Amino acid sequence: MRIEQVEFKLKDGRSALLRSPGNEDIQGMLDYLYVSSGETEFILRYPEECEKYTPEGEKELFDRMNASDNEAMIVCIVDGKVAGNCEIVWKKGMKTKHRAFVAIALLKEYWNQGIGTRMFEEMIRIAESNHDIIQMELDFVEGNSRARALYEKMGFRITGVKPDAIRLKDGTLLNEYSMVRKMK
Ligand SMILES: CC(C)(COP(=O)(O)OP(=O)(O)OC[C@H]1O[C@@H](n2cnc3c(N)ncnc32)[C@H](O)[C@@H]1OP(=O)(O)O)[C@@H](O)C(=O)NCCC(=O)NCCS
Repeated sequence: MRIEQVEFKLKDGRSALLRSPGNEDIQGMLDYLYVSSGETEFILRYPEECEKYTPEGEKELFDRMNASDNEAMIVCIVDGKVAGNCEIVWKKGMKTKHRAFVAIALLKEYWNQGIGTRMFEEMIRIAESNHDIIQMELDFVEGNSRARALYEKMGFRITGVKPDAIRLKDGTLLNEYSMVRKMK
């Protein structure tokens, strides 16, 4: 699914764009995936795991998501650079098509600029325009207070905890929390 381009101002006054990804974003996306994976433990991959991502694979992914009727990817562009992305996907099965799953991440230099809030507004708009969807769902890792604050602001509530869902390289085990946002 493609979205209409949205332009907005970051908290620091710079202009930013939200749009569907295109071929011009492939290298920026690969750079963002690699760098962001090393900036926080709250992203579920390490930088070396990004070696499997290729320009051809990203192109295939963008094309598939842009053409899909049950998934959308949105990239945020600041000063011509991919600052991050988010995704919304819902299943097609009769018993589960009412649930939409969302995920989001940004490069650290763009945290706290209001991008996450704008991305969620857009994903909520997409979910609201599909009348099958009655709830949005996501997970976050224990300790991710910025993400939790954003999700609660956007109407999500904690519904459960998966103990020791994440295991870091040093052996640290972290819980993962599930959240749900009921559609109005
Ligand atoms: C989590 C993330 C997507 C949030 O996006 P963002 O653009 O930074 O979020 P916003 O700026 O729109 O909003 C963040 C809110 O949290 C608040 N906040 C920031 N740090 C906080 C903290 N440590 N504790 C509580 N609230 C915090 C901000 O004040 C802001 O609220 P406000 O708009 O009411 O002032 C982004 O920080 C990120 O990519 N983090 C690393 C990857 C990640 O954790 N992804 C989520 C995996 S579940």
